[in-house]
Amino acid sequence: MARILITSALPYINGIKHLGNLVGSQLPADLYARYMRERGHEVMFICATDEHGTPAELAAAKTGEEVDAYCARMHDEQAKLADGFRLSFDHYGRSSSPQNHKLTQHFAGQLRKNGFLDEVSEKQVYSVADGRFLPDRYIEGTCPNCGFEDARGDQCDNCTKQLDPTDLIDAHSTISGSTDLEVRETKHLHLRQSLLKDKIDAWISSKTDWPILTTSIAKKWLHDGDGLQDRGITRDLNWGVPVKDGENDWDGMDGKVFYVWFDAPVEYIAATAEWAEANGKSEADWERWWRTDKGADDVKYVQFMGKDNVPFHTLSFPATLFGSQEPWKVVDYIKSFNYLNYDGGQFSTSRGRGVFMDQALEILPADYWRWWLLSHAPENSDAEFTWENFQGSINKDLADVLGNFVSRVTKFCRSKFGEEVPAGGTYSDVENKLIADLAAKVAVYEGHMEAMEIRKAANELRSIWVMGNEYLQTAAPWAAFKTDPDAAAASVRLSLNLIRLYGVLSRPFIPDASAAILSDMGDADAAWPTDVAAAMGTFEAGHAFTVPAVTFAKISDDDREAWAEKFAGVRT
Ligand code: MF3
Ligand code: ZN
Repeated sequence: MARILITSALPYINGIKHLGNLVGSQLPADLYARYMRERGHEVMFICATDEHGTPAELAAAKTGEEVDAYCARMHDEQAKLADGFRLSFDHYGRSSSPQNHKLTQHFAGQLRKNGFLDEVSEKQVYSVADGRFLPDRYIEGTCPNCGFEDARGDQCDNCTKQLDPTDLIDAHSTISGSTDLEVRETKHLHLRQSLLKDKIDAWISSKTDWPILTTSIAKKWLHDGDGLQDRGITRDLNWGVPVKDGENDWDGMDGKVFYVWFDAPVEYIAATAEWAEANGKSEADWERWWRTDKGADDVKYVQFMGKDNVPFHTLSFPATLFGSQEPWKVVDYIKSFNYLNYDGGQFSTSRGRGVFMDQALEILPADYWRWWLLSHAPENSDAEFTWENFQGSINKDLADVLGNFVSRVTKFCRSKFGEEVPAGGTYSDVENKLIADLAAKVAVYEGHMEAMEIRKAANELRSIWVMGNEYLQTAAPWAAFKTDPDAAAASVRLSLNLIRLYGVLSRPFIPDASAAILSDMGDADAAWPTDVAAAMGTFEAGHAFTVPAVTFAKISDDDREAWAEKFAGVRT
C-alpha cells in the first residue's frame, strides 16, 4: 500500500468554472484519486479556491460586495458544484485561510534568509484619481506589440505577450476609467529564480517519464531567450497575504501583498493543514504528507493542471520550495492537459461562452458529463465539445452498451428465474474464455489508470462493457432457455456477475450510476476485482437483486437541438 498525495490546480474564485476548466484538472485528478483509493492506497486529495489577486477584487467590485464576502460566497458555490460533480476531495480549502497566510509568509522569510529575494525599486503606474497603484488587470491600454486596444497590465490577450503596466500605450484605470496616471517609484520583492535555474533544470531533466507537454513547456521557459528570469512576487493591493518576513514586519513593504501566483501553490500545503484542523488532527498528521523529514519521503505526489499552469508548477513553485532550503515534498509527476474547445471556438469565462458547471448539472446528471469529458480528455492535443459528439457518446456508450446490458440481463432473469441468481448448469468453454479475456483486459485497464492515460483507460473500459453484449449475442440465453434451461441459467449467472464487475470497474468514472447498480445488485460495497476469475463467481445461486431502474436515458435529437441553441450565445 502506497501513500499518494494528489492536488488539482486551484480554480480561481471569480466565477463558476466551465467544463474546459473541469476536465483540465479537477475531474481527472478525481478519477485518479478514486482509482487509487479503490486499489487500497492511502490517498490525500486536495483542492481549494484561489482567492487572491486582481480578478477577485474586480469581480467583487462588479457585484458590489466586499471582496472577503464575495470570496466566501463563491467558495461555497464552487464547493457545492464540486460536490455535484462528485469530486472526492479530502479537503476543499481556501487560499485566503489563516494557514495559507502563515505558510506563505514563512516561505518568504526563508527565501529572504537564504538570499533568494531581491528588493527592487520599480516604476509602477499610479492613478491619481483612484489614489492607488494599478497592477495587472487594474490597468488597460493599447498593446505595444500588436496594437490590440484592450490589453491588460499583465498580458495582452490578443498576442499573449506578457506586459508590464508601464508598457501600455494610452492606458486607463479599469476602476475609474481615469487617464490621469503617473509613474511612481515603489519597492517590490523579486524571487531570484535565475539563481535556481541549474537546480531546476537538472530536476526537470531527471523527469524522463513526465508527459512531453509538461517538460517541453518547462524547458522552453528555462532555455528560451535569456532563460529563467527573476520574477516580482509582490503587489500594491489590499486583498491578499500581507508581505511579512515570517511573523515579522518587512521594512518598506507596508500595504503590499504577495502576488497571487506566489501564495496559490502554497495553499496546496496549507489546505492540507486546513484538513487537519477541520478533522481534529494534529500538525504531524498533515506534515507526514509534506515534510520529507516527517514521513513524506515515501509519498508519491501527483499534480493535475491545464498547460497554462505548467510554468508556475515546474519553475516558480519549485523555486519557492528549493529556495526555502527546508525538506518540503516536491511533486513527483505532473499530468498536464491541453484545452477543450467548445463548438468551433474556445470556452471563455470572461465572454461567457460554453457550458458552465452549474448549467451542466441542471440538464443532466454528473455521470453523463464525467463520462464524456474523461473519455475525451484533451491529453495529446486540444479536444472539442460538440453536442452531436456528446449525444453520440452518451447514447452509445452509456445507454446502448452499458445500460442495455444491465437491463437486458436483469429483466430476462426476473422473467425466467425471478430476482435472484439462478442455479443450474456450469460455465462452458465460452464462459471460461470470456473470463480469461476479461482478466487480460482488466489488467490493461489497470495499467492505463495507473499511468493516468485517461482516454486509453476509458476506451478499455468501454471495450470491457462491449464484451458483455457480445457474450449475450453468442450465448443467447433466451433461445437456450427453451432447449437447455441449465445452460441459460449458467449464462445468466455469469452475466449477473459481469454486471457486478462493471459496477466496480466503472466506479471511478461514473460513481453514481455504479453505486446504484451495485446497490440494486445487492453488493453496495463490492471490492476491486484483484482476481477477476474469483470475482466472476461472487454471486452464487440464490443471491437476491432488484432490476435496476433505467440507468441511462438517451439524449433525444430534440434535447440536443434545444441545448445547442440554449448554449450558443453568451452567458451574462
Ligand atoms: N487559479 C489558477 C488558474 O485557474 C491555478 C492556480 S493553481 C495553484 O489558472 F498552483 F496556484 F494552486
Ligand atoms: Zn498584443
